[in-house]
Amino acid sequence: MSELCAELAALFPPGAVAAQLHGVAQPEYLTKDEISAVSHCSEKRVSDFTAGRLCARRALKELGIEGFSLLPARDRQPVWPKGIAGSITHTEGYSAAVVIRQGSVRSVGLDAERVAAVHEELWARICAPAELRNLRAFHGTRRGERAAVTFAAKEAFYKSQFALTGEWIGFADVVVELEDESGGGGVFTVTPQRPVLLQRQEPRQLAGRFRRHGEFVSAGIALC
Ligand SMILES: CC(C)(COP(=O)(O)OP(=O)(O)OC[C@H]1O[C@@H](n2cnc3c(N)ncnc32)[C@H](O)[C@@H]1OP(=O)(O)O)[C@@H](O)C(=O)NCCC(=O)NCCS
Repeated sequence: MSELCAELAALFPPGAVAAQLHGVAQPEYLTKDEISAVSHCSEKRVSDFTAGRLCARRALKELGIEGFSLLPARDRQPVWPKGIAGSITHTEGYSAAVVIRQGSVRSVGLDAERVAAVHEELWARICAPAELRNLRAFHGTRRGERAAVTFAAKEAFYKSQFALTGEWIGFADVVVELEDESGGGGVFTVTPQRPVLLQRQEPRQLAGRFRRHGEFVSAGIALC
C-alpha cells in the first residue's frame, strides 16, 4: 500500500506532499477511467501505472482531493487536478508521487532509480563528459550511486520542464552537478548546454535535491 513519506516531500518546497509504495500494486485500485486508459497495456505496465496512481491518490488526499481519475495525456503526462502540480515515478520495486498546490511553484519533477539498475555501460549515454570526469573522483559503490543520482536528477528535471514547455531535451543537453550534504542526500544544479525553451520563462533557479534510501536514489526539483 502507498504511504506518505516526509523525507521524499522534503526534496521539494514546503507544502509538497509525497507518497511511496514498495513492491507491486494490484489494478483493482484504479478507477474505471484509469483502467480504460491502460486496458491495452502489458501486465507490467498496468502494475507500474497502478502503483504510481496509488501514490498520487494518497498524496492528493492530503490536499483534500479524493475520487479523482488521474488520466494520462497523449504525451503521457498525468493530467493533474486544476491548480495542482505533480510528478510520478516508478522503478523496479519502488514507486512514488509528489503533489503541490501551484502558487510560486509552477511544476515539479520526481524520479527514482534502483542504483544497481543504472549499469556502468549506461553511464556514457546518461552523462556528459564533464559528469563522467566528476564520477571518476569517486570509487566503488559511491561512484555507482552518483551515476544513478545524476540519471535521476536529469529525469526529474526533464519531467518538470516538460510540464511547462513540452520540449524534448536529451541527456547531453544538460549538465548536473551534485553536492553531498550529511544525512544521505544533497543538492543538485542543472546547467543547460544549449538554449532551452524553459529559459524563456525565467525560472528562478534550476536546482533540486536528492536522497539515498536503501537500494534506491530519488531526485526532486521544483520550478518556480
Ligand atoms: C518521460 C521520462 C522522463 C520518464 O522517465 P522513466 O524513468 O522512463 O519513468 P518513470 O517511471 O520515472 O516516470 C514515468 C512517469 O513520468 C510521467 N511522465 C511521462 N512522460 C512525461 C513527460 N513527458 N513529462 C512529465 N512527466 C511524464 C508519467 O507519470 C509516467 O508514469 P505513468 O505513465 O505511469 O503515469 C522518459 O521516458 C523520457 O522520455 N525521457 C526523455 C529524455 C530524457 O530523459 N532526458 C533527460 C535529460 S534532461
